Amino acid sequence: NANPRLAQVMPSLTRHLHDFCRENEITVDEYMAGVNMINEAGRMSDEKRNEGQLLTDILGMESLVDEITYKLADEAGDAPTATSILGPFWRKDAPRRKMGDTIVSGIENGDNTLMHGRILDYNTGQPIPNAELDIWHTAPNGLYEQQDPNQIDFNLRGRFTTGPDGEYHFYCLRPTSYPIPSDGPAGRLLTLLDRHPMRPAHIHFIISAEGYKPVVTQVFDRRDKHIENDSVFAVKDSLVVDFLPKEGDPKAQFDLHYDFKLASY
Ligand code: DHB
Ligand code: FE
Repeated sequence: NANPRLAQVMPSLTRHLHDFCRENEITVDEYMAGVNMINEAGRMSDEKRNEGQLLTDILGMESLVDEITYKLADEAGDAPTATSILGPFWRKDAPRRKMGDTIVSGIENGDNTLMHGRILDYNTGQPIPNAELDIWHTAPNGLYEQQDPNQIDFNLRGRFTTGPDGEYHFYCLRPTSYPIPSDGPAGRLLTLLDRHPMRPAHIHFIISAEGYKPVVTQVFDRRDKHIENDSVFAVKDSLVVDFLPKEGDPKAQFDLHYDFKLASY
């Protein structure tokens, strides 16, 4: 076969799908309900909405493949900062901002936070200059800017580049927990399963630098009441962080320190 990976995974996928149908004696009506759900997810998806991803995420699939991918990297001896799922709300080409800037615009009721730390070489512990930190998180109303007509384009997003010391710092918000969009098939399925749609408060990152393997990850607020039951199963212990009270900075009430570590190629 021209594509050995496809030749490996397709018979396995077919076998598992058939076993699933046999084991549960899936009827034609049940099969059609599933097909309709997939079609509906497709119809409501565009560059602002990824319902297919939401559907697989509430079934734990993205967090599972993240874990598998991370385990492979770990076995190769270079799984530095733990990874977490990308989720459906990343946008490419977030604005480049200057170190020390804020990513927050037009939000009065947020818990402003100074986030800072270094981006380091996992093997040597040395700072990585020219590393890029791409960040995105929700507003206090629980919405990413592309879901919210009241936020300016690319609000609460930005890309920062480290200098020679590998250091970064900027202002963002201490995020809030919020429900994944529940007005589509993923939300209906959660309701049918008696499950809640909440994600614990988190901030997303992609950390990258030339010569290093990029890390897609999130950090999670330890004090969030949903920290133990994320609706998409993405929390890892090493990504749980503490927002500390900050004194004497008119621009921030909280301080968040986190160092990111990258493995070289
Ligand atoms: C999902 C991930 C997120 O980070 C988020 O904010 C909402 C949903 C998800 O995995 O479906
Ligand atoms: Fe998110």
